[in-house]
Amino acid sequence: MSETIGVVGAGTMGNGIAQVAARAGCDVVIRDVQDDFLQRGLKTIDKSLQRDVDKERLSTEEKHGILGKIKATTELSALSGCSVVIEAVTENLEVKTDVFRALDQITQPTTILASNTSSISITKLGAATRRPDKVIGMHFMNPVPVMKLVEVIRGIATSDETYERVRSLSDKLGKTALDCQDSPGFVSNRVLMPMINEAIFALYEGVATRESIDGIMKLGMNHPMGPLTLADFIGLDVCLAIMNVLHEGLGDPKYRACPLLKRYVDAGWLGRKSGRGFYEY
Ligand code: CAA
Repeated sequence: MSETIGVVGAGTMGNGIAQVAARAGCDVVIRDVQDDFLQRGLKTIDKSLQRDVDKERLSTEEKHGILGKIKATTELSALSGCSVVIEAVTENLEVKTDVFRALDQITQPTTILASNTSSISITKLGAATRRPDKVIGMHFMNPVPVMKLVEVIRGIATSDETYERVRSLSDKLGKTALDCQDSPGFVSNRVLMPMINEAIFALYEGVATRESIDGIMKLGMNHPMGPLTLADFIGLDVCLAIMNVLHEGLGDPKYRACPLLKRYVDAGWLGRKSGRGFYEY
């Protein structure tokens, strides 16, 4: 019998995780609060798989087979039979804590509860449940179908067994799991976000244009995207939230968010998803 993976949240990360899990042969239950969020998520999965159909790396039949493995629901209770549930809701401690508390109530005691958080403490999320030994971070990167990494974060109480199960699930999904401790921003965002923030400071101080800053990092460092383009891709609200977690959690002024980043978020210029960030879309 194939494993059933639950995904909470059908946004960018949630639908990507659902796609790779279904493609790896898992049954998937994806839950969001509204049907239109689910429909949008399923449409994104369809589009993403279609790229591979167009490139003749997947047949239309296989695509339908993958889509058929994904059950979309607004009922949290539909996740009760999952062996692992991966939470990918908005990056907000209160919202995530509520989800973990509810998942703890409705899933089997053996179910692993993983969070795709990009910076929130796994130890805190574990403490909201009666099974902190089975709570762990599985931080996927965007776009999930393309990026190879899963950053695996162990909370203070996460057991070795949970860690091993998540490592082997990551292998099954075709990802490479690399582990780190539960520290603000983990490794990925502790290193990435200050670079993005510094690029925003360079723009703010008029050191160079947006095109120059991005071009210098793309051509000079062989990055696939310049830092301002990447910030727009990630979402400027997400970048700001992560900088705030680093600043508060590590207490060092070097992590203070650039005033220009704050101003853009205040204006609702959140990057690609809102049609405007450092670039216009
Ligand atoms: N679904 C499926 N496939 C996708 C895809 C998607 N959403 N987006 C791109 N692809 C595939 C394309 O089909 C293409 O595949 P092939 O090469 O096998 O044909 C490949 O990815 C490259 O895509 P494109 O040619 O369209 O464009 P590109 O070469 O510019 O690559 C990119 C796009 C993969 C996004 C690349 O620009 C990139 O790697 N950017 C950096 C992404 C990054 O840093 N992500 C991490 C963000 S941080 C994060 O996620 C964590 C956090 O906590 C904030």
